Amino acid sequence: MKILVTGGAGFIGSHLVDALVARGHKVRVLDSLIQQVHPGGKPQFLNPAAELLAGDIREAEAVRAALQGVEAVFHEAAEVGVGQSMYEPVRYMTTNTVGTTVLLDEIRKRKDTIRKVVVASSMSIYGEGEYDCAKCGGVAPAVRDLEKLQTGVWDIACPQCGGGLTPVPTRETKQLFPASVYAVSKQDQEQLSLIMGRAYGIPTVALRYFNGYGTRQALSNPYTGVCAIFCSRMLNDKAPLIFEDGNQTRDFVHVSDMVQANLLALENNAADYQAVNVGSGEPISIGQVAKLLAEAMGKNISAEVTEQMRVGDIRHCVADINKARRLLGYEPQVKLKDGVKELIEWVTRQTSEDRAAQAAEELEKHKLVVSAV
Ligand code: UD1
Repeated sequence: MKILVTGGAGFIGSHLVDALVARGHKVRVLDSLIQQVHPGGKPQFLNPAAELLAGDIREAEAVRAALQGVEAVFHEAAEVGVGQSMYEPVRYMTTNTVGTTVLLDEIRKRKDTIRKVVVASSMSIYGEGEYDCAKCGGVAPAVRDLEKLQTGVWDIACPQCGGGLTPVPTRETKQLFPASVYAVSKQDQEQLSLIMGRAYGIPTVALRYFNGYGTRQALSNPYTGVCAIFCSRMLNDKAPLIFEDGNQTRDFVHVSDMVQANLLALENNAADYQAVNVGSGEPISIGQVAKLLAEAMGKNISAEVTEQMRVGDIRHCVADINKARRLLGYEPQVKLKDGVKELIEWVTRQTSEDRAAQAAEELEKHKLVVSAV
C-alpha cells in the first residue's frame, strides 16, 4: 500500500514509518522539519526507504503533492507543547486545526482512493481524567480551582460534595474538557477528522495517545514530553524540574505500543469512525518517573520540586484501554521499566543542549505558572 505519514520525521511518526516500511508498504513523509524539533535538519534516523517531502501541512500545494497515489494517511504532524501553546496560540491553532483542515480538504477530493485515515489525537482533550468519590461515585471534574492551587492544594476535589477523589481509568465516553490551547487544537483535529471521514465515507480512526516516550523524542526541545526533558536535564548533570509536588500522575506508553495501535487501526475496520485510547493503562507519578530515569542513568540527582503549576496542566489522567483491546486487539507490550532502560541506552549516546530552564522562564514571563503562596 502507498501510505503518507505526516510528521513522519518526528518521534512517533518516524517509528511508525519504520514499521510500515518493514511491512512492505511504500511510505511518503510530509514534514516541515521545524527547527525546535529538528535543530540539525533532516534526522539521521529517518528511514532511507521512505520518500521525504519537506513541506508545511497548511500549504495545500504541499499536501496535494504528498497525497499523490496515496491509499492511507497517518496524520502525526502537530505542534505539541502544552505550555508553549498558551503563549503561541495562533501557531498551535493554525498548524493543528487549520493544517488538519487543509489535509482533510485534500483527502476528501481523493475519497475514492484513500481507504484509511488515522489521526493522532491526545488524552489532553479530556482535561482532568475520571475520578471516584467515596460518597458520590464516579465524577468527571472540570478544571482545577485557582484559589486552591494558590494554597498548594494541587489535587482536585469532588465537584459535588467537595470531598477527596481517587483517580480511576478514563474512558472514551468521558466528557471532553480541554484545559489548554494545545488540547483544544487536538480536539479539533480529532473531531474534524471523524466528521469528514463520516461525511465522505472514508474510514477514519482517532487514536487518543497518552504520554508517549521512547527513543528519538527530541531531547533539545524543552517543550517536548516530560521523559525527554528530564533526560536532557540529567544528561547535562542538572536536576529535573518537577511542577506541582510531583504526585500528579500520567500514563506512559512506549512508542512501539503507539505504533502497534496505528498498525491495528490500519489493518482492522472495527474502530473505524471512532476515537480510541492508546495508553499502558498504568498510572505513575511524575516524581516516580524522575526517580526511575535517574536510577537508569546512574545519576545521583534528586529532582527539584518547584511547587509551581503550569497553566493548562491537568492533575491525573490514566487510560482505560478496554476499548482498544476489544476493537483492535491492542495489548501494550512494553513495561515502563524496560522501556526506560532502552530509552536511557539511547539517551546516553546523545548530546543535548538543555533548554528546560529557558522554557520555564518563558512561562514565568507570560505569567503562565501558578505558585503556591
Ligand atoms: C503530553 C504531550 C502531548 C500529548 C499528551 C498525550 C508534550 C509536550 N505533551 O502532554 O503532546 O498529546 O502528552 O500524549 O509532549 N512536567 C514537569 N516538569 C517538566 C515538564 C513536565 O514536572 O519539566 C510535568 C507536567 O507538569 C505534567 C507532566 O509532567 O504534570 C507531563 O507533562 P508533559 O510531558 O508536558 O505531558 P502532557 O502535558 O501530559
